[in-house]
Amino acid sequence: MGTYSLLDQVRAKPASSSNPDLAQGVAFDDLEDGGMLAGHVGGKAVLLARRGDEVFAIGAACTHYGAPLKDGLLVGNTVRCPWHHAAFCLRTGEALRAPALNPVSCWRVERQHGVIYVREKLERTTGTQPPVRSDVPKSVVIVGGGAAGNAAAEMLRREGYSGRLTMLSADESGPCDRPNLSKGFLAGTASDASNLLRPLEFYEHRGIDLKLNARVALIDRSASVVHLVDGSSYPYDALLLATGAEPVRLDVPGVDFPHVHYLRTLADSRALVAKAHSSRQAVVIGASFIGLEVAASLRARDVEVHVVAPDSIPMERVLGAEVGTFVRRLHEGHGVVFHLETTVRSIDEQCVTLASGARLNADLVVVGIGVTPALALAEKAGLAIDRGRRGGCVPANERTGHFRSRRYRAVAGSAHGGEHPRRALGCGRTPGSDRGARHSRTA
Ligand SMILES: Cc1cc2nc3c(=O)[nH]c(=O)nc-3n(C[C@H](O)[C@H](O)[C@H](O)COP(=O)(O)OP(=O)(O)OC[C@H]3O[C@@H](n4cnc5c(N)ncnc54)[C@H](O)[C@@H]3O)c2cc1C
Ligand code: FES
Repeated sequence: MGTYSLLDQVRAKPASSSNPDLAQGVAFDDLEDGGMLAGHVGGKAVLLARRGDEVFAIGAACTHYGAPLKDGLLVGNTVRCPWHHAAFCLRTGEALRAPALNPVSCWRVERQHGVIYVREKLERTTGTQPPVRSDVPKSVVIVGGGAAGNAAAEMLRREGYSGRLTMLSADESGPCDRPNLSKGFLAGTASDASNLLRPLEFYEHRGIDLKLNARVALIDRSASVVHLVDGSSYPYDALLLATGAEPVRLDVPGVDFPHVHYLRTLADSRALVAKAHSSRQAVVIGASFIGLEVAASLRARDVEVHVVAPDSIPMERVLGAEVGTFVRRLHEGHGVVFHLETTVRSIDEQCVTLASGARLNADLVVVGIGVTPALALAEKAGLAIDRGRRGGCVPANERTGHFRSRRYRAVAGSAHGGEHPRRALGCGRTPGSDRGARHSRTA
């Protein structure tokens, strides 16, 4: 069969181009360079992407929250997710950028006489193990069980690191998807199971010794050992600090009442969910991302919500006045009451008292007034702290040469406004690489 007749047949098919069967063929010239086409093969959603003369077929949905990759961007040999900007390699399907952790599938593409056919799904290859190098540390200890620590541990194993790998987390649960804690899980639309980044068996299977409730009190750099508050200690050849950030604490009378909550960990979110079941009126202190997400989630649970903040327009500093006003109206449309340009004077068992003297009934109070980088360990250990150009960024980083001899790396979260899980994951994914070094200075 000649070139033209094949092409003619392909082009003569009814224009089901919104979701074509890619096994039936697509004319190469109909897919422009840099173009993407979503279709299906054997019941699976597949994305076709053209880069110059090459055409790739990969899974059409992002492995993070399922966004349609066809709406994303092709950048080099990667496709960027339109929702939270994960990047997948077109050649291997590998998740190259956070927040996606898992790869997308790849299909074999065949080109015949100007027609592209998507054939069978390719088996994932685990890759060839890199040769064992003598300068690789025998043991790595990661302090931090957040997105960054988790990504670092995963990437070390994925890249073939076979030494002892320990992750020490002060949290009582495994690494979790913190963004879910103030949104789907708190609103009641996402299950508790959706919170963990990986099931606990994942770490066991990969030889990652994950220790929970394991708070490090001290790094003894001269002995290369970390000491935990419970008295135990862990020696290391290389140490990665990924201690992230912790909530800024409110300093007014009454903050220690049990109905006053912060939201950082899965345990915090579970406690809030439990409390929300019996709450009638909540006061949320802080009108930035977490405060407003909590407000929206509590409204979804039919709790009356008042938001108190010193700002005149919520999130103006981050989003500008116009978007901030829009955000305010959106929340008001859902019943949130704002008390702006004011602060909290005190909290008691029934009320929150504002600076003006006004009293708001509250059987639940949530404080969301920003985060501060968890730098205490690095500071106590005498590590150099790079606070970044804006003075608000956090990372600390001591470079004593290459990772293989580089003993300390810190990828602590950044200060208010700069924290981002993608950065956290990005830092974690490149421990010891130059990219990692750059990130850790600017995370
Ligand atoms: C409720 C909530 C919602 C969010 N939503 C969004 C969002 O929608 N979009 C967005 O971009 N970002 C969001 N973020 C921010 C995002 O979650 C963070 O950027 C990300 O979690 C940072 O990851 P990390 O690993 O650097 O630090 P963290 O997640 O803070 O993890 C730090 C880890 O270090 C551990 N640790 C700290 N000190 C010690 C110690 N001394 N010993 C042992 N372990 C220690 C902690 O226990 C923790 O396990 C949200 C955060 C929260 C809390
Ligand atoms: S859905 Fe793709 S990065 Fe979140």
